[in-house]
Amino acid sequence: MAEPIRVVVTGAAGQIAYSLLYMVARGEVFGKDQPIILHLLDIPPMVGVLEGVVMELADCALPLLVEVVPTTDPAVGFKDVSAAFLVGAMPRKEGMERKDLLSANVKIFRTQGQALDKFAKKDVKVLVVGNPANTNALVCSSYAPSIPRENFSAMTRLDQNRATSQIAAKVGVPISAVNNIIIWGNHSSTQYPDAGQGKVVVNGAVKSVVDAVNDASYLQGAFVETVQKRGAAVIAARKMSSAMSAAKAACDHMHDWWNGTAPGKFVSMGVFSDGSYNSPKDVIFSFPVEIKNKQWKIVEGLTLSDFAKSKLSITGKELQEEKDEALSVLDSNVSNL
Ligand code: NAD
Ligand code: LMR
Repeated sequence: MAEPIRVVVTGAAGQIAYSLLYMVARGEVFGKDQPIILHLLDIPPMVGVLEGVVMELADCALPLLVEVVPTTDPAVGFKDVSAAFLVGAMPRKEGMERKDLLSANVKIFRTQGQALDKFAKKDVKVLVVGNPANTNALVCSSYAPSIPRENFSAMTRLDQNRATSQIAAKVGVPISAVNNIIIWGNHSSTQYPDAGQGKVVVNGAVKSVVDAVNDASYLQGAFVETVQKRGAAVIAARKMSSAMSAAKAACDHMHDWWNGTAPGKFVSMGVFSDGSYNSPKDVIFSFPVEIKNKQWKIVEGLTLSDFAKSKLSITGKELQEEKDEALSVLDSNVSNL
């Protein structure tokens, strides 16, 4: 058996964590041979709930789970962790945009960036789930200058999974038959879900999604809007934001970062922009990436339509505005933000 790795989940008493902890502790992310020490970080008012979560994890009798460390102290929560799921943050309610959470949540990610910087392993892989996820990841990284910025990411995998599921249903094939659907930009209603590079297997033959769907107005209209507004639709129905699907997407994201992507296949992650595809530099922008040896690389050289370019420009502008707002909330002169 391998040496155990330490993995922190913040917001460990919350609803996403309730699904996520089980999947991580079962070996669905880091592998069925990788023992895990789970650090559960939440805030003092949630200590009682956290105790219940610890009891349930014990009662799951999971062979890979060698220790559980519940805490409200970031110094303990982030100590020596190799992977961090940053879930803990306020969720939006009906009628809000995710960026309305910025002033409440961005400060959490300043504190957690500072704690990661001091206490985590330098090769820690950080996935920000708490909204607004892209800008929170940017802030977190800025306060953790000793950790490479490539190690910070924001979750748009839920959007990718939603988009893939919509296409599979439209074409009438299983989910596993659809690949390379891209989410560009922000995890917000300006994101651009792009099926233009997608591939689908129909009756054993690989086709482009564009040919298989054969309905440009759907791919530029209802498909895009459904994915952009899916989070709000779940909130309207459940009166709470998505949790099971968010936890699954967090596992998918970290799994692929840890284990790599198959040749010719790519996934979407919010990562530091280098200006590829005319995106604004130095914001966390969702791109298609390929992953090898735990390093992601933006897929370059894709041809974008004028429609796609205009959508990327809208979501890039929003990310730039969120970054400016984060700076004003933090009243910060952090040189690398
Ligand atoms: P929740 O309210 O059920 O749980 C959040 C937990 O975080 C609570 O237990 C709270 O006490 C804890 N918390 C708050 N501040 C903290 C801090 N400083 N340190 C540690 N823990 C802290 O919320 P949820 O439904 O689990 O959602 C969590 C976040 O994830 C929200 O911001 C939500 O909008 C976001 N989200 C993102 C995606 C995505 O695709 N990126 C998907 C779904 C939800
Ligand atoms: C989602 O996409 O479901 C989450 O970001 C929650 C939300 O506020 O929409």
